[in-house]
Amino acid sequence: MSIFYDESTRCFRLEGKESLYQMQLGPLGHLLHLYYGRKTPDCLSYLYPPQDRGFSPNPYELRENRGWSLDALPQEYSGSLNGDYRLSSLEAERADGLRGVELRYIGHEIVPGKYTLPGLPSALGRGEDWESLTICLEDAAVGLRVELLYGLCPELDIITRSARIRNTASLPVRLNKAASACLDLPFGDWELLHFPGRHNRERRAERRPLPDGIVTLASRRGASSHQHNPSCFLCRPETGEDSGECIGAMLVYSGNHRMEIERDQTGSVRLTAGINPEEFSWLLMPGESFAAPELVLGFSDCGIGDLSRRFHRFIRREIIRQPLPLEKRPILLNSWEAMYFDFDEQKLLNLAREAKALGAELLVIDDGWFGHRDDDKSSLGDWFPHPGKLPRGLKPLLEEIVGLGLEVGLWVEPEMISEDSELYRAHPDWALTVPRRLPVIGRDQLVLDLSREDVRDYLFETLSGLLRLLPLRYLKWDMNRSLADFYSHALPPERQGEIGHRYVLGLYELLDRLTEAFPQVMIEGCAGGGGRYDAGILAYCPQIWCSDNSDPISRLHIQHGTSFCYPVSSMGAHVSFSPNHQTGRSTPLNTRGLVAMSGTFGFELDPAKLSEGEKAEIREQIRRFRMIRGLIDRGLLYRLSDPDRKDYAAWIFVAEDGTEALLNLVLTQVEANPRPLHLRLKGLDANAAYRLAEVWLPDGFAWPKDFPNKLSGASLLYAGLTLPPLYGDYPGLQFHLKREDVTDGKHDE
Ligand code: DGJ
Repeated sequence: MSIFYDESTRCFRLEGKESLYQMQLGPLGHLLHLYYGRKTPDCLSYLYPPQDRGFSPNPYELRENRGWSLDALPQEYSGSLNGDYRLSSLEAERADGLRGVELRYIGHEIVPGKYTLPGLPSALGRGEDWESLTICLEDAAVGLRVELLYGLCPELDIITRSARIRNTASLPVRLNKAASACLDLPFGDWELLHFPGRHNRERRAERRPLPDGIVTLASRRGASSHQHNPSCFLCRPETGEDSGECIGAMLVYSGNHRMEIERDQTGSVRLTAGINPEEFSWLLMPGESFAAPELVLGFSDCGIGDLSRRFHRFIRREIIRQPLPLEKRPILLNSWEAMYFDFDEQKLLNLAREAKALGAELLVIDDGWFGHRDDDKSSLGDWFPHPGKLPRGLKPLLEEIVGLGLEVGLWVEPEMISEDSELYRAHPDWALTVPRRLPVIGRDQLVLDLSREDVRDYLFETLSGLLRLLPLRYLKWDMNRSLADFYSHALPPERQGEIGHRYVLGLYELLDRLTEAFPQVMIEGCAGGGGRYDAGILAYCPQIWCSDNSDPISRLHIQHGTSFCYPVSSMGAHVSFSPNHQTGRSTPLNTRGLVAMSGTFGFELDPAKLSEGEKAEIREQIRRFRMIRGLIDRGLLYRLSDPDRKDYAAWIFVAEDGTEALLNLVLTQVEANPRPLHLRLKGLDANAAYRLAEVWLPDGFAWPKDFPNKLSGASLLYAGLTLPPLYGDYPGLQFHLKREDVTDGKHDE
């Protein structure tokens, strides 16, 4: 077992491969947090000698002991209005006006396996070593029972947390905040690494020292948002990619979220994470329960890169419900940047022929195929073929495309409804709108009320109809506006504060039903690119269109930031036109290819507009990708540079068994008479020899003839490589190393 309770010290220990998470029951049954860090054998309560702090009050029963205060001791799940003035975890109000929460222990249970959270995505417990701990706490005055849930996967050294809250009173209780977890880090300096952004510039990695006070990372947009990803790392100031301590946290949730990090008067740091309490209030009738979304925690003292790689494994194995084998993750060509709304059956057939000739495996018909949609102003909700563009309907067209030897996929935006649609005319109350107020409009569309069962049933039937009728292998599931009118015409007034969360529960339920019913169909998530990129949606959508910005130089930053938590196998990335449609920047095809290959790899262009030379280069890229896709998809990712701070971006994929590696580099700034470009590789076996199997350079460059064709892992790791100077606009190179033999550390040339 890896979870222990020691009766003599009243300590809980959760032991990962390297880490220890420790808690203790206080004299009155409060659950204190003691430690999260590298494993030690002792009970660490000695770290907290009593200290009388002015204005930090005491529980009544301990009033003789002024050194014992909830405000000064680390808490496992803080209450509210209880004398701890730091961030609360749970805020409640009973129908008779009683407010606040003070939790005390009533029992616990340790069991093998992973707990489940019905209705919410959470770690699946596929690994055999999972164990779960439930600690039951109670506020007897309000009548609330809280089960703190802990899942431990020792092998991945990951802890999952959630909280289940039950009303044991005879009166209704309103929850105004119900965090998934709270984590106190009482000592030392910490820096915050987080991932802010905006549309077309998602998840820029930003790192800063924590100030005194509170830093908030949050979304109130109904989705996890382009603006603040629901994830962060707390790092020691000296921590880097390859060394030092850090703690990572990511929510398995796709809606309004809030992560808050407080540095208090004593320098102690508290992280709380969960559903955003703004726009949230949940009514619990007597006997009812509420479950908070899961928070995933990881600790490493080997740097941020190590924790990222563990998060990648975790997402691939424990989050994604249908991990599709490689051959089922097609190289696709998407019609959006190729044609936008301007297509008809003939143009699509031509696109399919061109796609097939390049070597693509699947054609995606993006926005514009339904209703009378000729621009983004109409038809969302009318999921039948556009009679003007597709007079024969979809079936014969898709069958013809399949006949060409391509698979097919379709774009849908099921959560939305246009005012100009048959669906809206029939069901205006299905949209989220506030009575007596004009709705807030985004991209000329309204949002369907997914908290309603009738709406979900309609969507399930409509989408199932398409999936049953058509030979579809793929859906792109888009969501192109933020929510604003959090009002459901189907919920009573006292439950309107629940709509944000109910919407997300509805979305999960719909996705769950569809993925169960059509396991052969892969759903790629999208929300105007990466506006809903989180571990919750990844449960149903194994890949997500990373950003609407397909410029490879912008993508270097976006994919770099995304890689801290999420695996490259989940990052939708395509080669698009140059000059790029979002930035106007021109980049070489080679660079566009290698950036898209560090994701799912596909195309977002019309090959008919390319020269024969460009088509040949793309065919070569596809050949290359087929050869190395397993290494990219399942290999370990090592970041070799921070593209926000260097004039280049470099990263390497290393096979788990160390037999091969793929180095990628793009220069973002080119100079005359440049300094030598020197890189030390990572992740290789120092005792092995590596052969340079293939190098791909921009046109006009040659790899030095006298470069040794075999080098020891030790040389590549410790002495590194000096790369030939590259010139021109954003040149990129890629090279493939294969392990030859084991050299016991000696260069064997
Ligand atoms: C936003 C997506 O991110 C794009 O790729 C495209 O599908 C458009 N929506 C279509 O409206």
